[in-house]
Amino acid sequence: MKKITIIAGNWKMNKTPKEGKLLSKEIVNSLKGVNSVQVIFSPPFTGLNEIKTSAPFFKAAQNCHYEKSGPFTGEISIDMIKSCGATHVIVGHSERRKIFKEDNQTINRKVLAVKDSGLIPIFCIGETLEDRNNGLTEKIISTQITEGLDGVDSLDGLIIAYEPVWAIGTGVAANAGQIKEIHKFIQNVLKNIDKKHYTPVLYGGSVKPGNSQELINVPGVDGFLIGGASLDVDSFVSIANVMEKNRSN
Ligand code: PGA
Repeated sequence: MKKITIIAGNWKMNKTPKEGKLLSKEIVNSLKGVNSVQVIFSPPFTGLNEIKTSAPFFKAAQNCHYEKSGPFTGEISIDMIKSCGATHVIVGHSERRKIFKEDNQTINRKVLAVKDSGLIPIFCIGETLEDRNNGLTEKIISTQITEGLDGVDSLDGLIIAYEPVWAIGTGVAANAGQIKEIHKFIQNVLKNIDKKHYTPVLYGGSVKPGNSQELINVPGVDGFLIGGASLDVDSFVSIANVMEKNRSN
């Protein structure tokens, strides 16, 4: 079975619909020959409709509400996301966990609702620097997985993004050894849930053109979730090209 390789750009709270449309167009035009890598754009909700994609390009929302509709001022349902043509939803990003106080139970409800709707969750996990310094990395990650995926029987249609919190937006990516160790650990935890399906595990946290060649070759890395470098056409395109080159042969 050929494993898929994924590059997902998490634009966070950046780009108006017009700016996002332009950015996605420029990236699509620059990546015409790409066929070994799936490219996912994740604009703010307001930009989803403006971006036109067809495989290997896809769209993701950065968040969702788990209820179908109702009195939830300021929230967006999965059906609304779907109606904008998105196929994926980022769930449990560390900024949602930290700033918006989302716990594993809330994230679990979102993962279940996204899976239920037929969209693909990009389920984010990762330890803080304090967790790592206290030797708690594996414990935190296995708890995030088991609680976040509670009630999930099949891992078909799920993507995981391992993003150590200390590496996000800091310019200091985890090193190859750390990433290899945790991706292997994640796959072992996943085997207890569903042995049949392989779950792609992306790495995220300060991925740049300069470290992309090394990091895409780390065993167990199925792609990247990229913040800062996804906002710049040249950086994002250069990382995608490195991935294509390393995965097409
Ligand atoms: P970064 O962000 O690439 O800017 O470190 C990654 C993320 O938050 O998904």
